[in-house]
Amino acid sequence: VIESAVRIRDANPEDAGSIARLLEQLGYPSTSDEVAARLLRLTDFGSAIVQVGEVRGQPVGVITCHVFPSIHATTPTAWLTTLVVDRDCSGQGVGTALTTSAEAWARNRGASRIVVTSGNHRDGAHAFYEHLGYSRTGVRLAKLLSPSQTAT
Ligand SMILES: CC(C)(COP(=O)(O)OP(=O)(O)OC[C@H]1O[C@@H](n2cnc3c(N)ncnc32)[C@H](O)[C@@H]1OP(=O)(O)O)[C@@H](O)C(=O)NCCC(=O)NCCS
Repeated sequence: VIESAVRIRDANPEDAGSIARLLEQLGYPSTSDEVAARLLRLTDFGSAIVQVGEVRGQPVGVITCHVFPSIHATTPTAWLTTLVVDRDCSGQGVGTALTTSAEAWARNRGASRIVVTSGNHRDGAHAFYEHLGYSRTGVRLAKLLSPSQTAT
């Protein structure tokens, strides 16, 4: 098997369709229009990146990362907020290249720690992150927020 070179670059509006297909594989079905709008919002946010990994000129993976200040640390914290690689292209180093790139961006933004939360069922992803030096330090709890009941 000849491994193809992986190229990492910032996402642009033309990637919306490819990113939408990747998000569907991740379990978040989205239209290209929705993704295009979200790309704009993330760019406006100013403290996040969206990058794609290309193999043979095709975007086959996407990562997003946020950096934000907190009250419990002087340096900002980085959060990997999305990562998915096309299942047909797994095991080619695309996920590693995307994660390494996001880590470098976060480091440049002053972050000294990067975290990711990952669903309990994603055993493959957990092995992937541990391979990259991440360790299990907590548990994620989530709650759906229903529309607000009038505060009195
Ligand atoms: C997890 C994921 C991002 C990995 O991307 P990838 O491009 O296949 O990863 P890489 O090729 O860079 O793998 C690097 C190393 O991680 C480990 N690894 C990757 N996927 C693994 C898996 N499913 N099971 C066990 N180890 C795995 C391996 O040690 C691998 O090294 P090797 O190829 O020398 O064996 C990708 O499989 C994916 O998108 N999965 C579905 C979505 C998902 O779970 N996303 C994370 C949400 S938090």
